Amino acid sequence: DMQSIFGKNGSETPEPVKAQVKGSIPSWLQGTLLRNGPGLFSVGSSEYNHWFDGMSLIHSFTFSEGEVTYRSKFLKSDTYKRNIKADRIIVTEFGTMVYPDPCKNIFARAFTHLCNIIPDFTDNNLINIIRYGQDYYASSEINYINQIDPVTLETVGRINYRNHIALNLATAHPHYDSEGNTYNMGTAIMGFGWPKYVIFKVPADASDKEHKRPALRKVQQVCSIPFRSTLFPSYFHSFGMTENYIIFVEQPLKLDIVKLATAYFRGVNWGSCLKFDKDDITLFHVINRNTGKKVSTRFYADALVVFHHINAYETATCTTMFYIQNMKQETDSFIDSNKKFSPPVCQRFVLPLSIHKESPRGTNLVTLTDTTAQAVVQEDGSVYCQPDALFEGLELPGINYNFNAKKYRYFYGSRVKWSPHSNKIAKIDIVTREHIEWQQENCYPSEPVFVASPGAVEEDDGVILSSIISPDPNISPFMLVLNAKNFEEIARASIPASVHMDLHGHFISAAI
Ligand SMILES: [Fe+2]
Repeated sequence: DMQSIFGKNGSETPEPVKAQVKGSIPSWLQGTLLRNGPGLFSVGSSEYNHWFDGMSLIHSFTFSEGEVTYRSKFLKSDTYKRNIKADRIIVTEFGTMVYPDPCKNIFARAFTHLCNIIPDFTDNNLINIIRYGQDYYASSEINYINQIDPVTLETVGRINYRNHIALNLATAHPHYDSEGNTYNMGTAIMGFGWPKYVIFKVPADASDKEHKRPALRKVQQVCSIPFRSTLFPSYFHSFGMTENYIIFVEQPLKLDIVKLATAYFRGVNWGSCLKFDKDDITLFHVINRNTGKKVSTRFYADALVVFHHINAYETATCTTMFYIQNMKQETDSFIDSNKKFSPPVCQRFVLPLSIHKESPRGTNLVTLTDTTAQAVVQEDGSVYCQPDALFEGLELPGINYNFNAKKYRYFYGSRVKWSPHSNKIAKIDIVTREHIEWQQENCYPSEPVFVASPGAVEEDDGVILSSIISPDPNISPFMLVLNAKNFEEIARASIPASVHMDLHGHFISAAI
């Protein structure tokens, strides 16, 4: 059944295999879709407690002249190598606390943990693929990333953010500007002075031609933002970027630093060190990405939990808007999946940047006619924002990334209604608020990825790529290619190898 295909161990296909194409892959579609996700859930007789703990399996789907080739390799992280060598899980993950071998010096290990407060995390980078300069990295949210060769999928080696910039955590969802520069955000909790959030940039030309030194050595800090409460930094999974601004949502889903520091002794996993404070507010920070200066207006909203930002942009009236995914309940309900799962909601917030001292109190400053979002100036000059609920039951959102930081109309994602594992992908039209879907019985699609046609003018002129798996032994895994306009199937490439459900990916275009 469905559960069995998600939790079973995946396997590597280290040499490229040719897929069998039904239909016709557009000849202009040239490039490689790299994807990442958990693929190994047990080692020897030990098992991970949680799906997000599984060890990274990297996939590549290469499109060339109407053909598709597939290969996959486990990320050869230190975590992977240590676990395989020991033939059991010996490195702690998000939901799995592992104690050291009793033969080793337990007190020495524990003392190291206490000194660092934030322990030496796992480098099992299973969430996404990030580009810094011309280097590609498997990434999770901790201080380690692992460089991979995007062609062979070999693991080049691990990089510690902390050797280049002071932070303990960093997101797996950076942004890229039109020049190819990468922007990302992290959290500096301990050992770098006052705790703070850090926004940083890696220039497009940061790579070493000989690939000997990492692009991260050219990292530049854009700015830092202090935590609103020192011992409770907000957890954040992504952020928004407009033409001039970074938008950071400081949500009341917080990391409890004291709990984190003592988790090891109390025998609880890191995941339990997150808490959702439903009575607190959500703060929106708007930072000029050229000057590093923060907009002084205090924008806030009711408590929410956001994972993925869909897009953010500015309008002529100097208004910033963006969509987010709001999990209505605690993250636990997402993580524990089936128990009390509530479908994520896509919401739009509008932040009026043109506010000034004389702005009228108590009135809605949002003048846009295509949204019901509100922003009302309070007596003290702060702005209370209420969202426009756009769509319910969608996760893993994506857009035509050429429209990132620009006004846009469409987004794509995986439908999630009663279960966090999606069996449909969808396209949502923000103007008409209508949606279209693709589904096939007994098939589970991965996050849909948009690739634009060459010279495309219309936002949805292109294809949607999604890798599909099925528990039905008669349906081999396949790469689905849809016309992004109408979600009609253009082609499917059946893969004569095992493919596993994944999380996020990155398309590297080979088009001229
Ligand atoms: Fe994500």
